[in-house]
Amino acid sequence: LTTNEKQIIENSIRDIKDFPKEGIVFKDITTLLNNKEAYATLMNHLHSRYKDYNLDYIAGIDARGFIFGAALAQMLGIGFVPIRKKGKLPYTTIGEKYALEYGIDEIEVHLDAFSGVNNARVLLIDDLIATGGTANAAATLINQTGAKCIEACFILGLTFLDGIKTLKEKTDVYTVLEV
Ligand code: PRP
Ligand code: ADE
Repeated sequence: LTTNEKQIIENSIRDIKDFPKEGIVFKDITTLLNNKEAYATLMNHLHSRYKDYNLDYIAGIDARGFIFGAALAQMLGIGFVPIRKKGKLPYTTIGEKYALEYGIDEIEVHLDAFSGVNNARVLLIDDLIATGGTANAAATLINQTGAKCIEACFILGLTFLDGIKTLKEKTDVYTVLEV
């Protein structure tokens, strides 16, 4: 990724102050997605990074991880697996709880989602890592199915929180941008 390409991506992400509540600076990636130059620059970069990883699947986290994950899976010619918020997946699932700022939430994956390949090599993807709670739970779920989470990839890493550091104990981590 050249400095110029990094700028194109970074400049396309919008900061929204006090959303969804006071004190949070929300990173809005909708302005990256509707910017054809920024979206293509990002996806071409991810494709060139991962084309030689011998990946079997991309797993994307509900909901913004679906947008990047499904596009990348198609570019790489591999399958996509959604990791969803509790209660959305119709077949047999396994679930993992994780801490939010207030209370807990849970994500789930289909038990047989990676069963098309033995010991499947999986890339986990989401738009952003903050506390890392969501991604940690997702990596745990992938590994519980018998597949292996090779790397977790994020467009944005918030470095003032310890999410990246904690997740690195479980899997390799790659962030396109850090703020
Ligand atoms: C956001 C983001 C990540 C997660 C990161 O999703 O897309 O999935 O939070 O936070 P963490 O590192 O502290 O766990 P959110 O739960 O807001 O769901 P959404 O994509 O459906 O808006
Ligand atoms: N998820 C958790 N923290 C976030 C933030 N600051 N912006 C966008 N999504 C988030």
